[in-house]
Parts: sequence; structure tokens; C-alpha cells
Amino acid sequence: MSFDVEAVRRQFPVLAQRPYGKRLAFLDSGATSQKPQSVIDAVTRFYDRDNSNVHRGVYDLAERATAAFEGARKKIARFIGAEPREVIFTRGTTEGVNLVAQSWGRASVGPGDEILVTGMEHHSNIVPWQLLAAEKGAKLVVVPVDDRGEVHLADFERLIGPRTRIVAVTQVSNVLGTVNPIREITRLAHARGVPVLVDGAQAVPHEKVDVRDLDADFYVFSGHKMFGPTGIGVLYGKAKILEAMPPWQGGGDMILSVSFEGTKFNTIPYKFEAGTPDAAGAVGLGAAVDWLEGLDREGARAHERDLLDHATRRLQELPGLRIIGTAPGKAPVISFVMEGVHPHDVGTILDHEGVAVRAGHHCAQPLMERFGVPATVRASMALYNTREDVDQLVQGLHRVREMFP
Ligand code: ALA
Repeated sequence: MSFDVEAVRRQFPVLAQRPYGKRLAFLDSGATSQKPQSVIDAVTRFYDRDNSNVHRGVYDLAERATAAFEGARKKIARFIGAEPREVIFTRGTTEGVNLVAQSWGRASVGPGDEILVTGMEHHSNIVPWQLLAAEKGAKLVVVPVDDRGEVHLADFERLIGPRTRIVAVTQVSNVLGTVNPIREITRLAHARGVPVLVDGAQAVPHEKVDVRDLDADFYVFSGHKMFGPTGIGVLYGKAKILEAMPPWQGGGDMILSVSFEGTKFNTIPYKFEAGTPDAAGAVGLGAAVDWLEGLDREGARAHERDLLDHATRRLQELPGLRIIGTAPGKAPVISFVMEGVHPHDVGTILDHEGVAVRAGHHCAQPLMERFGVPATVRASMALYNTREDVDQLVQGLHRVREMFP
């Protein structure tokens, strides 16, 4: 098995279109990835053939829907090295962090306690903790980010103190591409009895994740960034911790029995899955796992590394362009600013050249402040990108320079 990018591209119908008559260079996979035909087909097939509510019917169709839904959970569990009962379906990364903050956090965080985050977190790994801290009289403590966009273990060592209740850290920065040393962070935190939540949203599309090897207590990610559908994601939690946590949302399926005197809650993972789940989304995410597992993932990684090297080299040729985030071993994400041009103007001009990038604060305003910029342009690549996409970006940036000399 070897990695063949052209064969991969043919499986993504969206990539064949020509915006403004130009070849599409889709460089915004950090926001959401495109979907291979097999994922699109799996979702369609579910609605065509198997659709019914799950866990609620005794007829054949309901059993098929339930089997498809639970089958997806098993695939995802195997994919990240977890047990199926440790895989909770959510709407995405954001909901996963909120679930932990509201359920585990409300039971475990009190006045004067500290929640340790890093300066490169996405708003979704900051705001849920701020809400909790405001409610409980706790506070956020921030691990600083250096000029290359890295955090240092010595700072974790210094800042994890007797009041630290949890460390919440991203594995890969959505802006900088920095890959954080999660194993070392969990080791440090656990040595002090502190659990760790890892935001894996930007990691799962690029690298093989094993939650046991990382020793994460919680690991959250979204389906839509890893070639699956939108509206479905996963919260992994160690079974022991999940079992001890109170439910978050109440409703159907999360109960064993209900009376007006009291309610007995279901076992994990169902205790945290109130209401009808996105069964089609889960099936689509299962198909994304199958699709990823059918690839030469080492080959895909090498391809992404080549894209990043090529893009870094070519962008550095452009005068007045500053790359933000230069940590070694980055994921294939490049944020940059161009002297004298607002990132939104860069984004709009590139759009007319068929190049899709994200321009803005990337839901990481504290990080923008750290680097002294209001916004950046971000080219985020996936395994279906090619050097041609990168060259089209560079050509588009020359066009920007012509317009803003
Ligand atoms: N978190 C997504 C991004 O970085 C939306 O673009």
C-alpha cells in the first residue's frame, strides 16, 4: 500500500469544481475537511435503508439502525485505542469540552481552584472553563507561548500547583500548527494528581492517536475535521472517571428508570447521550474511520510534511510576509500576515484566484494578541492537497502584492 494523492483526490467530489473558472485550491481543512464519496454514501445509505430511531424499537429496521450506530462507536473506539463505553457521541469538540466542564467541572472545581490552559487554546477550550470558573469562583491560569509558538514543560511544572484541578490543552494548535508534547504533559500532571483534557480536533486528521498511550483522561474531537460529517464528534473519557461523573443533559436514553420521586441513570456512555443522537452522523464518522484506516497513513503523513516544507519555503520567498508559528514538527498549517494588507483582503483576493483559506482570528483571540496581530491568513492542508494547491496560493499572493504594492 502506498499513498497516491491523485487517487485520493478522485474520491472527493467537491475538489473537482472550478470557482470563478479556476481550479479549486482548498486550503481550509483546519476549519472543516472535505468528505470522501464513501462517507457521503454511508450517510445516504443510512437514510435510504436503515433509518429509524436507535435503542428504542424492537422491529428489524430499528435493530439495524442501532447496530449501525453501535458499530460506528466500536470502530471509533478501536481507532483511538479506547473501549466502546468510553466513547460518547457529541456534536463536536466544543460540546465535548462543555460536557466535561459542566459535569466533571461542577462536581470537582471549587472557589480558589485553578484550571490550567495554554495561550494557544481555541475559544472552545477557554470559554467553557471561564463559565465554570465564574460560577465556582475558580480561575484560569495560562501557560505562555513562546515566539516560535511553543509551550515549555518547565512552565507546566511551575504552574501546576496544589490548586490546579485540571489541565486543558490542545494537541495541535489550529492557528500555529504546533504539536504539543501531550505524553509529557499528562505525565507531569498525573504526578501531581491532576487530570488532563486534550483537544484533539486538529490532531486526528493528521496523526494516529492512541488515548491510552497519551494517557489522556479526556480526549475530544470533531468528525467534520477528520473527513466525517458535521454535527458529530466524540468525547473519550477514562471509564472510571466517566462513571463517577454526574450526567450533564437530562432526557431520553440517559436513564434506566424515571419516576417523579427520582431517576436512575443509565450506564456509560448512554448516561451522557440524552435525546435522539445523530445516528447518521455517527455512521458517517464510522465510514471516515474506515476510509482513513484504508490509507497508507505513514505515506499520508510524509506527503503532508512535504506539503508543509514546500509551502514554508515558497511563502518565505514573498517579501513582507511573516509566518506566525514556526515550531519544529508542526502539523501542515501555516498562518501568516502580509505587510500593509489586511488578512480579510488577502482572503478575498485569493478567493477570486480559486484559493480557499481562512482569514480572521481563528477563534483564538488571546493567541492573536500574543503575536500582536488582529488576525492572520491561514492555509491549512490535508492529505488531499498537492504542491499545485500551494503554488496556486503563492501565485495568488503575488496577485495580492500587485494590488497592494
Ligand atoms: N476550529 C476551526 C478552525 O480552526 C473552525 O478553523
